[in-house]
Amino acid sequence: MLDKIKALREEINAAIASDMEAVEQLRIKYLSKKGLVSALMADFRSVPADQKREVGQKINELKTFATEKINSLRDAFLLKEDDSCDELDLTRTASPEQLGTRHPLSVVRNEILRIFAGMGFTIAEGPEIEDDWHVFESLNFPPDHPARDMQDTFFISRDPSDVLLRTHTSSVQTRVMERTQPPIRIVCPGRVYRNEAISARAHCFFHQVEGLYIDRNVSFVDLKQVLLGFATRMFGPDTKIRLRPSYFPFTEPSAEMDISCDICGGKGCALCKGTGWVEILGCGMVDPNVLEACGIDPDVYTGYAFGMGVERIANLKYKVKDLRLFSENDIRFLREFESAH
Ligand code: PHE
Repeated sequence: MLDKIKALREEINAAIASDMEAVEQLRIKYLSKKGLVSALMADFRSVPADQKREVGQKINELKTFATEKINSLRDAFLLKEDDSCDELDLTRTASPEQLGTRHPLSVVRNEILRIFAGMGFTIAEGPEIEDDWHVFESLNFPPDHPARDMQDTFFISRDPSDVLLRTHTSSVQTRVMERTQPPIRIVCPGRVYRNEAISARAHCFFHQVEGLYIDRNVSFVDLKQVLLGFATRMFGPDTKIRLRPSYFPFTEPSAEMDISCDICGGKGCALCKGTGWVEILGCGMVDPNVLEACGIDPDVYTGYAFGMGVERIANLKYKVKDLRLFSENDIRFLREFESAH
């Protein structure tokens, strides 16, 4: 009996199968009710009592051995049938998928909005596809006014009324003024488009945050204080600002604001071209014509507006020299801002 068990074990050990069907045949041959291992159980009855213990144990061992053997043959085929398992790389670490990072422009925009929210501004948004009225006419750009050339426009259609891509988010300010009476205190973030050749310093689209405050007795002093508050929170408490006279059709008087260069601390370097100052935004008191065009009484209310490019602020904060990096989505560049938010 013991010899029979041993022979059967060797036979099973040597068994091979070329496909799943063959594995099933082996299972039937050895492990089914009428199989060879079960047949041993029938013989077991005639084994003398003093050998029953040893023989019983051997039969059980054989049964386990046969089950494991057939299972391992079956597993080999299951793995082969699943193609992806060919690429199973057991040396890979078990870390989860890498998370993306927030885009540097989003980080900077959120920071700008957070600072103005702290000063009581709420966020207003509007469409990127606009009409001539909201982008130009209402903002004191009469037809054929040369100031329209300041912002090279992408036109979508010129008939019957112009449809165009907004060149600034001042259009959102018009939309808010048209439907709201003062006090109005908003910041307008968004993407804007200008027909410019793409280079390290210019792109055909960029992002802005513009601000508007209209109420009774708003003066240039209020504007200056809010902008100083912004500059020191964004670029550090020692940051100085200066306002230079400028021109925009929708503000009067108008100014451009510089901040002290934080690379050289005002001594003069390549970034500030030796002047110690870098320009960051345009601003001014809202022209009475604009208030009137939007249904707000300029004899009762005054207001200020300002507008900045998010890319420009990000350039200064992170010393990114080439604007194009912001829209190329090179993951090595984006990863550098992993800890920025
Ligand atoms: N709209 C101007 C621009 O896009 C910026 C600006 C906004 C200037 C508000 C003054 C006041 O250049």
